[in-house]
Amino acid sequence: MALDQNIAQHYAHGTLEAEILAALAGAGKNPGTLTSADLAPVDEFHIGGRQATKDLSAQLDLPSGARVLDVGSGLGGPSRFFAEERGWHVQGIDLTPEYVDVATSLSRRVGLADTTAYRVASASALPFGNRAFDGAYMLHVGMNIADKKTAFAEVYRVLKPGGLFAIYDVMLEGDGDFPYPVPWSAGPETNFIASAETYRKDLAVAGFSVVTERNRRDFALASFAQMRQRMAAGGPPAPGLQIVMGATAPQKVANMMGGVQRGLFAPVEIISRA
Ligand SMILES: C[S@@+](CC[C@H](N)C(=O)[O-])C[C@H]1O[C@@H](n2cnc3c(N)ncnc32)[C@H](O)[C@@H]1O
Repeated sequence: MALDQNIAQHYAHGTLEAEILAALAGAGKNPGTLTSADLAPVDEFHIGGRQATKDLSAQLDLPSGARVLDVGSGLGGPSRFFAEERGWHVQGIDLTPEYVDVATSLSRRVGLADTTAYRVASASALPFGNRAFDGAYMLHVGMNIADKKTAFAEVYRVLKPGGLFAIYDVMLEGDGDFPYPVPWSAGPETNFIASAETYRKDLAVAGFSVVTERNRRDFALASFAQMRQRMAAGGPPAPGLQIVMGATAPQKVANMMGGVQRGLFAPVEIISRA
């Protein structure tokens, strides 16, 4: 589908794993003995990075050994965190083939190939049977999903009854345009950011009951302030998401920060049950 290809093209990089490994080597990490914590600055592709994943994890009562779906798994940072810290078996799916390859390779490098797996697929056509998973999560992906009702219906279908679905997405808060590029889109053709109200409605149509909702605007502003402090401190650039976002990273980050600061959008968690 043309839209899916457009989105995958937006995220595709070309030499991502080599650049990540070079940046980590430059920061003194040995590519032969990497840990998932070493990767966290480059593989947690959402506002607040690993801290945001930890904060979400604290609210998810899935036991060790649970089978969990990661919708839009990116480079695999959240899945490796959950596999390592929670003992879950995580299956990621993602539209971007390069991300699936890099996620697979990074998991192998840090010894998590048995508990994480990734494949190319769309959230709107999940290649799994009914009731295959105990839980699912989706971090900073819905902004690219035009038809959220279909994607949520798919997640509902593959979850066991009562299964958890945790979302952490950037959601619309106010009226007004924002400039592109932003980290999830180079232009309006691939931007489908929506309000928390739309998410709640679409989740309900798919059969989910919303359990909690938490706006993370203040957390986002604090994490932007920390980012600015690190940049102001100078020194050689540390490994970070600028590698993943490529040449337009500074504009993407500035436009995202501006949107949150102006109250146009904010990251929000919504946790629901099938
Ligand atoms: C901003 S990244 C977030 C990656 C990851 N969830 C994380 O937090 O590190 C968005 C990811 O969603 C994927 N994506 C976007 N739309 C998708 C869809 N309809 N189905 C599957 N993956 C999708 C992109 O390829 C990209 O890897």
